[in-house]
Amino acid sequence: MSNIGSYEERLKGFDWDMAKEILGWEEGELLNIGHICSDRVCARGQADKAALIWEGFGGKKRTYTFDDLRVYSNGFAKFLLDRGLKPGDRICIFMDKIPSLYFSFLGVLKMGGIAQPLFSAFGDESLEVRLESAGTAAILTTRKHVKKVRKILEKLPELKHVIVVAGDESKLKGEEVFFNVEAAPRVEEFDAYEATPETPSVLHYTSGTTGQPKGAQHVHNSIWGQVLTTSWVLDLREDDIYWCTADPGWVTGTSYGIIGPWSLGVTQCVLDSGFTCVRWYEFIQDNRITVWYSAPTAIRSLMRDGVEPVKAHDLSSLRHLASVGEPLNAEAVIWSEDVYGLPFLDTFWQTETGAMMISNYPDMPIKPGSMGKPFPGIEAAVLDLKTHEPIQEPGRVGLIAFRPGWPAMFRAYRNKPDIYRSKFAGAPEDATPDELRTNPDLWYVSGDRASIDADGYYWFVGRDDDVINTGGHLVGPFEIESALVEHEAIAEAAAIGKPDEVNMEVVKVFVSLKPGFEPSGDLELSIMNFIRKKLSPLAMPQEIEYMEKLPKTRSGKILRRYLRALEWGEDVGDLTTLEDD
Ligand code: WT7
Repeated sequence: MSNIGSYEERLKGFDWDMAKEILGWEEGELLNIGHICSDRVCARGQADKAALIWEGFGGKKRTYTFDDLRVYSNGFAKFLLDRGLKPGDRICIFMDKIPSLYFSFLGVLKMGGIAQPLFSAFGDESLEVRLESAGTAAILTTRKHVKKVRKILEKLPELKHVIVVAGDESKLKGEEVFFNVEAAPRVEEFDAYEATPETPSVLHYTSGTTGQPKGAQHVHNSIWGQVLTTSWVLDLREDDIYWCTADPGWVTGTSYGIIGPWSLGVTQCVLDSGFTCVRWYEFIQDNRITVWYSAPTAIRSLMRDGVEPVKAHDLSSLRHLASVGEPLNAEAVIWSEDVYGLPFLDTFWQTETGAMMISNYPDMPIKPGSMGKPFPGIEAAVLDLKTHEPIQEPGRVGLIAFRPGWPAMFRAYRNKPDIYRSKFAGAPEDATPDELRTNPDLWYVSGDRASIDADGYYWFVGRDDDVINTGGHLVGPFEIESALVEHEAIAEAAAIGKPDEVNMEVVKVFVSLKPGFEPSGDLELSIMNFIRKKLSPLAMPQEIEYMEKLPKTRSGKILRRYLRALEWGEDVGDLTTLEDD
C-alpha cells in the first residue's frame, strides 16, 4: 500500500498537521527549511546516509551524505553572514545544477536569507529584471556564468556581493570574491535562523502576460504542504532513490527537488548534463532509481525515441512515476504503462501554489488525460467565467480556483500588491495580503481552465491568458516583445505560443520592421540570437513572421489572442475591439 492509502479516507478528518506527524515534529522545534532538510535529518540518526548522488557532464560523479549537506550548508550560511549579509536579504543562486547550488540554497535559508534561484541559461536581460525587481543583495554564481553578471552590475546598485563558488579563482574581477565551500574549513556548528512560519524563504519568478516577471514570495511554513504532498503523491519512503528532473530555477526543482525529499531524509539523484534518452535511462539504471518526477516534454521525447532504448536498459528499480508542468496527454500515460509497466501520474500546480494542488494518487484509479483530484485539504473548484460562482454541472469549463490558506501558498508578488490582490476573486479593494490569505470566502484564481467530470476528476483545457508554456516553462510574451523592440530592425512585435509536438508550444513572433530593413535569412538569425542571448534559449523564437502592421485593439494593445487563434486554426472570436482602418 502507498503512503496515502485510500484517497477517500484521507479526505476525512484531514489536517495539515499530519505533515508534522510524518516528520515526528514537536511544537517548539526550530522551523527553518534549511535546518530541517539537513541538521534535523542528521540529528535523527541519518547523518551518514546519502543525500545527494550527483552526476555532471563527462560522467563526473559525487555522493554527499546528509552530514555533508549539513556542514556545507553551514559553510555557506556562515560565509554569507561574515560578508555582512543579513536575514531577509535576497540572495540569488545562479548556477548549473552543481552540488553548491543545493548547499547554498539550504545555507541561504539557514542564515535567514531569501533564496532566489534563477536558471543558469538566463541571459543578462532576464537576469537583470529579476535582480532589479528583488533588490537582490548578493549573487552566488560560477566562473562560467559570472560574465552575465558583470554586464549588468553597474545597473544594479543594490547588488553588493558577487560570489563565485566554482571554476577558476584567478580570473575574477573587481570586488568579486571566491568561495569554494568544499575547500574551505568545515563549519561544524551553526545556529540556524529562528524563522517563524511567515518568514520569507524562497522567491521564484514567474512570467505574466503584461509587465515584467513577478516574484512569488514563499515562506518557511510551505514545508508542511511540501512534506505532505511528497509523502502522499510522490509516495517517498526511507529507502527510495528519488530523481526529480527539474532545475531549481523552477519551483518544481525546489519544492520537490530539495525541500520535499530532504526534509523526509530521502536520497536523491541529480543529473547535471543535457538530455538524451540513453543518458536518462542509464542514470536510472546505474542509480537504481525508484521514484521519478518529470515533465510531459521529457516524456514525449522519450516516447519519440521508442521502446528499443527502454529494452536495452534495466529499469526494474522504478516503482512510481509522476509528471508536472503541462497537460500530460492520455497517450503518454498509456505508453508509460506499456513500456515501463507504470503510468505517469499527472500533478497540477503552479509557482504561486508552492505545492501540488490537483493530482493523481497511487491508490486512486487513473483516468488517462485527467489531472486527477484536489489534494486532501485543498478546496478546489472551477468557476464560471463571468460570475465566478463554482460550476456544479459536470463537464462545463471554467476557471480553476482554490480557497486561500494552504500552507505552501505564495504570500505576495514582490512589490506588486495590486496584481497579487487581482488573483483573488471577490477580494475587497483594501484587503491586506494577510486578509487575502485567510479569508475563506475568496477564491485564488489560477489562470487555467478546466472542467470537472461526474466522478470529481479535473480535465485541463488551457490557459486563460497569453502566457506561453514551452516544455513546462512559462514564458511571458511581454518580456520577449520588450526585448524584440530593442533590436535595431524591429518596430513592433508580438509573441505567441505555436503548437509543437515535443514542447507543446514554442515561441513564434510577429514583427513589423523599421523603414530601411527587409526580411532576410541573416536578419532572422540575428533576431533569434538576440533573444537567446538577452533572455534565454526557451524564449528564442522558432519562427518569425513579418507583418506590415500588427493587429491591435482600439486602445492600442496588441491582440495576441487573434494571432494565436489564426496560428492554431481556432475561431478568432469577438473582434469588435480590433482597431479598424
Ligand atoms: C502553469 C504553472 C508547479 C510546477 C509547474 C510549473 C501549467 C502545470 C500542469 C498540468 C496542465 C499544467 C499551467 C499552470 N501546468 N502543471 N499537470 N497540466 N498544465 O509552474 O511555471 O508556475 O506554471 O503550468 O498552465 O498554471 P509554473
